[in-house]
Amino acid sequence: MKDTRLSKIQDILRCPKCHGKLETDSTESSLTCQSDRSHSYPIIDGIPSFVKREEVSPDDAYWVFDYDETAEEYDEGVKLYDEWLGVDLMKEFKKAIEDVPVKHSSRVLDMSTGTGNIIFGLRELHQETDCIFVGVDLSIGMLRVAQRKFLEAQITVPLLHTQVMQLPFDDNSFDVLTHSGGINTFSDIPATLKEWVRVLKPDGFLWIGDEGISPALRKTRRGAEIMNKNKLFGLQPPLRHLPPKLKNINLRWLARDTFYKITCQKLSEEELREVQPLKVWFNAEM
Ligand SMILES: C[S@@+](CC[C@H](N)C(=O)[O-])C[C@H]1O[C@@H](n2cnc3c(N)ncnc32)[C@H](O)[C@@H]1O
Ligand SMILES: [Zn+2]
Repeated sequence: MKDTRLSKIQDILRCPKCHGKLETDSTESSLTCQSDRSHSYPIIDGIPSFVKREEVSPDDAYWVFDYDETAEEYDEGVKLYDEWLGVDLMKEFKKAIEDVPVKHSSRVLDMSTGTGNIIFGLRELHQETDCIFVGVDLSIGMLRVAQRKFLEAQITVPLLHTQVMQLPFDDNSFDVLTHSGGINTFSDIPATLKEWVRVLKPDGFLWIGDEGISPALRKTRRGAEIMNKNKLFGLQPPLRHLPPKLKNINLRWLARDTFYKITCQKLSEEELREVQPLKVWFNAEM
């Protein structure tokens, strides 16, 4: 693999269908599964694509293809939220990611990276580290904008076009996983979170933020107006969908109580060993 972006993650790339190892062809135009060569994925302008349009569920397609159309205006569009809610969302999110533990040589996966804003925020906070940031999204339009921004900033970030609930990575690959702004509308939130925890290393850190107003704001006229204008703000944080392999679960609100933030950690190797036999026993009894 000569593409410096992909070579950064060559060791953890896996076929999303069967988890076989993936290799690039000599022209670097596709990735092929070494376990089943009929599993082949095109690389378009440096971005491997693991999903075809017709494979996307109607619920996900409803949201994602809109982003394809509006990707160029996305960063400016965020400011409309600012005016309406009386906040500075970019500033709020930059502050809200200060607790993400990005260390030397960490591998950080930004899920639904969009135009790459979370990665830019984390890079700014951790300029001294040599960690690897990876961005994935289902909107190729958003990924193209992110790619251009990273090129302009001379940052090497592998970007992949993929579903969030069927990731092309090996188990236990990332030290940190971040996600902002998409989970509320994902078609299958429990399956998606299970997949995220699969690719997270033991003790790895998970950070999630999306629209959703606090219980206090819910009781006010302002809260009612916000929920009335945009139903996404009435949604509850997806705590009940978090898989059992997590610990230190923390819920906070930001941006004047209009967005939630969940942080947690995957169990340690030792803790996971304790969870595992129980599950086997449980399955055997069923
Ligand atoms: C509001 S934007 C947030 C972008 C970025 N995380 C940020 O905070 O600026 C939501 C992003 O989620 C992506 N998205 C929505 N549904 C998705 C899905 N099912 N799989 C992958 N990405 C998805 C969209 O394409 C879009 O880029
Ligand atoms: Zn395969």
